[in-house]
Amino acid sequence: MLPRLATTLAVCALVACSGATPKSTAPPPTSVDAQLAAGAQTFADKCAVCHGAAGEGGKKAPALIGPKALSDYKAAKDVFAYAKDNMPPDHPGSLGDQDYWNIVAFLLNKNGTTLSTPLNAANGGSVGTGR
Ligand code: HEC
Repeated sequence: MLPRLATTLAVCALVACSGATPKSTAPPPTSVDAQLAAGAQTFADKCAVCHGAAGEGGKKAPALIGPKALSDYKAAKDVFAYAKDNMPPDHPGSLGDQDYWNIVAFLLNKNGTTLSTPLNAANGGSVGTGR
């Protein structure tokens, strides 16, 4: 039994034994369209239950898509930072960075921002939310 216990402990040390589901490792999108499609999918899977299928908000959470949505955020990276630090509320940061960027791209696009290249850490500070 001891060798097996040692192995278990070693594995635990490696993965921190947090019980957290592994972060998805979405590859960087090759086009804006691919990013928007990926973001729409992840939003539907992870966010729509509270924020609404069309991001319209409701009793559980504020709107993320609509004329007044995201009005506290100036740059894409601000929305990214808030979402990564706080969303989903029961497991903040549980998605990969790429997933958060994809969702933010999807939200900004729906709010009227035209992206010329996929959103990422390098350009997220210079792309505005339009607010
Ligand atoms: C369990 C319900 C729930 C889920 C799931 C959820 N949210 Fe939220 N979200 C909230 C609530 C509640 C707030 C408001 C928090 C506050 O104001 O303190 C919020 C606020 C936000 C805001 C800030 C809105 C603003 O105007 O300040 C963003 C951005 C956001 N959520 C993104 C996401 C993303 C992206 C996901 C999916 C990865 C997600 N949320 C999943 C409940 C949820």
